[in-house]
Amino acid sequence: MTNAFFLGKGGVGKTTTSAAFALAKARAGKRVLIASLDPAHNLGDVLGKRLKDKPLKVEDNLDALEIRLSAWVDRYLKDSRDEMKETYSYAGALNLDSFFDIMKYSPGTEEYAVLWAIEHIHCALAADYDLVVYDTPPTALSLRFLAMPAISNMWITELAKLRERILQRRQIVTKINPGSPVASSCVDKDDDKVYGRLGSIKRRLALLQKLFSEESFVSVVINPDSLSVSEALRIKEELERIDIPFSALCVNKRGMSKAPWRLDDGLAGIPAFYFDFKPEGLSERDDLMKLDTHDLVAAFDAAAAEGIR
Ligand SMILES: Nc1ncnc2c1ncn2[C@@H]1O[C@H](COP(=O)(O)OP(=O)(O)O)[C@@H](O)[C@H]1O
Ligand SMILES: [Mg+2]
Repeated sequence: MTNAFFLGKGGVGKTTTSAAFALAKARAGKRVLIASLDPAHNLGDVLGKRLKDKPLKVEDNLDALEIRLSAWVDRYLKDSRDEMKETYSYAGALNLDSFFDIMKYSPGTEEYAVLWAIEHIHCALAADYDLVVYDTPPTALSLRFLAMPAISNMWITELAKLRERILQRRQIVTKINPGSPVASSCVDKDDDKVYGRLGSIKRRLALLQKLFSEESFVSVVINPDSLSVSEALRIKEELERIDIPFSALCVNKRGMSKAPWRLDDGLAGIPAFYFDFKPEGLSERDDLMKLDTHDLVAAFDAAAAEGIR
């Protein structure tokens, strides 16, 4: 099972190139699912099909879906609330509902929602396909959700250590004073709900980290202009930091402008693929085949044959 992500600045052509790539693979006989993670969807327009949050057939071998981020945010908050009620007996004393109302707008919530949507696609849907192609939101949100497993893992590791210390202290207190109020909640870490929860989140995040860093072909789309090149450099730095490969650079809209332009040396080592600007536009699904994805597909196939990483 392999995944292909297309990242980049807004408007550079992530949706167009990811759809062209998915279509080329599907027409070459692979079963492909293309999923849009961008809350401002236009994948359906590009494919000429109204999409939903579950896979719909676009044509033979090609299914597509657009995740509904707001529904995933609500689901994530509801699951968190249910878990909290179940895990913490004292939660009834807190006003959880108002707490979760605030959480809806707090930093990180959207990123987690995207992650759980990807997890759902990977665990519940991907088995029916040879590959899953992800059309992503503009850079900022994409880098944040890609970084989330690595960052959260550090957090959770520390929280688990803290929890272990709490449990040890309870055991000490219970030994000294078996009648102490903490004796009733004195359990081994294997029987502790909170510790168990931390372990299960850690495993879910590790699976996503593995998916991003070992099972994904990550393309960054740019246009021949200095702004999108600078953005690609920032993406490169960030991907290195979070141990996610930068597999390909897609230079889209070649020939659109005569403004001087050059690839930065910082991007020199990355395989680059060029897609011409089509002045007549790309209004139909078949128009996507005008973009020559041959070399990009070959690079993807080579990486997939080697197990991506
Ligand atoms: N190679 C191309 N030639 C002509 N128009 C293009 C090309 N690539 C993208 N476009 C157009 O550029 C606009 C932005 O593309 P889109 O794929 O939606 O970008 P993104 O998903 O990165 O925001 C769309 O109108 C699309 O049709
Ligand atoms: Mg797009």
